[in-house]
Amino acid sequence: MATIELQISAAAALLLLSISSVGNAQLIFDIMKYGATADGVSSIDQALLSAWKDACASATPSKIVIPPGTYPLGEITLQGPCKAPLEVQLQGTLKAPADSAQFKQDGWVTFQYLDGFTLSGGGVFDGQGKLAWSQNDCNKNKNCRKIINLRFNFVTNALVQDITTRDSKNFHVNVLGCKNFTFNRFTVTAPGDSPNTDGIHIAKVDGVNVTDSNIGTGDDCISIGDGTKQLHITGVNCGPGHGISVGSLGKTRGEEPVQGVWVKNCTITGTQNGVRIKTWPASFPGSVSDMHFEDVTMVNVGNPIFIDQLYCPWNQCKADIPSLVKISNVSFRNIHGTSSTAVAVKLTCSSKVPCENVEVGDINLTYSGPEAPAAISECSNVTPTFSGTQVPSVCAKEA
Ligand SMILES: *[C@@H]1O[C@H](CO)[C@@H](O)[C@H](O)[C@H]1NC(C)=O
Ligand SMILES: *[C@@H]1O[C@H](CO)[C@@H](O)[C@H](O)[C@H]1NC(C)=O
Ligand SMILES: *[C@@H]1O[C@H](CO)[C@@H](O)[C@H](O)[C@H]1NC(C)=O
Ligand SMILES: *[C@@H]1O[C@H](CO)[C@@H](O)[C@H](O)[C@H]1NC(C)=O
Ligand SMILES: *[C@@H]1O[C@H](CO)[C@@H](O)[C@H](O)[C@H]1NC(C)=O
Repeated sequence: MATIELQISAAAALLLLSISSVGNAQLIFDIMKYGATADGVSSIDQALLSAWKDACASATPSKIVIPPGTYPLGEITLQGPCKAPLEVQLQGTLKAPADSAQFKQDGWVTFQYLDGFTLSGGGVFDGQGKLAWSQNDCNKNKNCRKIINLRFNFVTNALVQDITTRDSKNFHVNVLGCKNFTFNRFTVTAPGDSPNTDGIHIAKVDGVNVTDSNIGTGDDCISIGDGTKQLHITGVNCGPGHGISVGSLGKTRGEEPVQGVWVKNCTITGTQNGVRIKTWPASFPGSVSDMHFEDVTMVNVGNPIFIDQLYCPWNQCKADIPSLVKISNVSFRNIHGTSSTAVAVKLTCSSKVPCENVEVGDINLTYSGPEAPAAISECSNVTPTFSGTQVPSVCAKEA
């Protein structure tokens, strides 16, 4: 008898498996069935955790649904490994506690140790950051609170699509240790003067794409940390904010190389910087290579093209000791529009490890400032190769 039962359940499992792979059937886990209410007041922490527990244990692909409505949600970690691919379809708006004191750690919603994950549904993660911004002391306190709306730790084969993150207390999204991870039609929004509200911070990843997305914040739209490999940013509108930045690098010991970043078909509007690679002086060694910036429109952007190996905010470093982060194999092609600073192209490389193999293609940047002299470039410790035309001329020898 025992053997027959075993055979039957094995056959049933096989049947289920074939249904899910052919018809893409997902088991649905609706949080309303787990006791959630959409009264806008009751938090859904318990309902979501219970739905997650069941969905994660499901041997067939599953989908957790959070229907339209507004739901308070406290600090939460949703973690795997799960038995099968899992989707969270957020149709409603989740609201974080406004008071940072209600958080024990540095993330609001954390997804971790997942393989085959989708976050979709058109919904919103609202970090309610206003109070936290007024209390932000990160420019003088190294141990300041950094509560991040969304954390993805060690998540592979994942898609985040049609999701908005708004008014995070600190960075909006942190992506760490992920592989084959795509953000598509992703929206990040926070006021231009909200401190440290970077859009997406990415580090120690292999294969991340950000496509057709809108990111406007008070800091970097996308910041790229050490150990980033194979990152494609395409069709992204960035601004307000500080632009798309690689770094800052070199401040901590043992940073992994940044290798393979493509920024293509993007529009950057009204930001402090455009596309930037920044490293600290007096730094630990490191490397940045294979960086390509192509088909980028700049609209009233400060420092549209910027390699800054003298990055030293708040005089936190010994600026006269050169950076040891080696930058090589970088290209800037077809970058055009307006610069809000007279210096439109600034390539400030390290005197100790000069930039190598920097290519400058078609550039057309016009200074849009009040006195409107022609835009200029500034270069040190770099000898680019050129193709096409450059307005302004780049790294021309002083007359
Ligand atoms: C990458 O992840 C997507 C899910 O977003 C999946 O469909 C695809 O098969 C994965 N690619 C590889 C090479 O595993
Ligand atoms: C990202 O885009 C590039 C270029 O289109 C593609 O080769 C790569 O497979 C994509 N990676 C992911 C994670 O989707
Ligand atoms: C460039 O990106 C925009 C989105 O900002 C998209 O609509 C357009 O199709 C893209 N163009 C190309 C050539 O990929
Ligand atoms: C830079 O590109 C050259 C070929 O163009 C290649 O040989 C070299 O390995 C690359 N350097 C790095 C650090 O990727
Ligand atoms: C640069 O852009 C300006 C403004 O769009 C345009 O008038 C000018 O012809 C362009 N120059 C080149 C060399 O493409």
